[in-house]
Amino acid sequence: MNGKKVKRGSIFHSKHNMIKLSKWESKKGVEFLKKAGIKQDQIILDFGCNVGNYTIPAAIIVKEKGIVFAIDEDDHTFGAIDNKAKLLELNNIKTIKTNGELNFDFADIFFDFIMLYDVLHYLNFQQRKILYKENYRILRTDGILSIHPKHMIGNFPLMELRNVTLQQLIIEVENSGFKFKEKIFGELNHDNHLEEGYVINFSKTVNC
Ligand SMILES: C[S@@+](CC[C@H](N)C(=O)[O-])C[C@H]1O[C@@H](n2cnc3c(N)ncnc32)[C@H](O)[C@@H]1O
Repeated sequence: MNGKKVKRGSIFHSKHNMIKLSKWESKKGVEFLKKAGIKQDQIILDFGCNVGNYTIPAAIIVKEKGIVFAIDEDDHTFGAIDNKAKLLELNNIKTIKTNGELNFDFADIFFDFIMLYDVLHYLNFQQRKILYKENYRILRTDGILSIHPKHMIGNFPLMELRNVTLQQLIIEVENSGFKFKEKIFGELNHDNHLEEGYVINFSKTVNC
C-alpha cells in the first residue's frame, strides 16, 4: 500500500482493481448485522457472498476469535473480499469457491448464524429445499438462519422467486424445520446500492 496508512471508508488501490470500502460496510452494516443477531466470537456462514458486502461487517463484529466462511460459486469476487479484509486488517474470513453445490463439508451444528442474503432467487424450489435442510444440519440448536428475501412478487420479481410471495417463502423455510422469528428492518446493501429493507430470521424448531 505504498507505506500510506489507509483508513476505513477510503479507497484501496491495487494493481488489478480498485476497491471502495463503503461506510455502510464498516459502520451501518455492522450496526444492522448486530441488530440481526451476530455477536462477537461467533462462527458465521455467508452463502452467496459475492464481493462481501455482508461478509465484511460480519467479520468486524465477530472479531479475531470468530470466523466468517464466505462461499460463492463465482470466485472472481474473492479478490475484492481479500482487499477489503486487508484494508481493515481482518484475518477472520475464509473464502470458499464451490461449484454451486448445496451440501457442505461442515460438521453438524457448527454455525451460530447463517446468511442467505439476496441469493435464494438463484435456486429453484428443490434446490432451496436441499439448502434449507443442509442449513438445518450445520446450524447450532440456538443458531439463527437469516434471509434477505429479494426478487419475489412485489419486490422486483426475478428468476426462481419471481412467482413466490414472502408468506410462501416463510412457509417453505418453516417446512424444513425452522420457525419464523422476526423481521428486522434497516438500511441494507443491495447490489452495492443502499435501500430500506428487511431480513427475516428463523430459529431451529426442537424435535425436527
Ligand atoms: C446477488 S449476489 C448477493 C451477494 C451478497 N449475499 C449480498 O447480499 O450482497 C448472489 C451471489 O450468490 C452466488 N450464488 C448463487 N448461487 C450459488 C450457489 N449455488 N452456490 C454458491 N454461490 C451462489 C452468486 O454467484 C452471487 O455472487
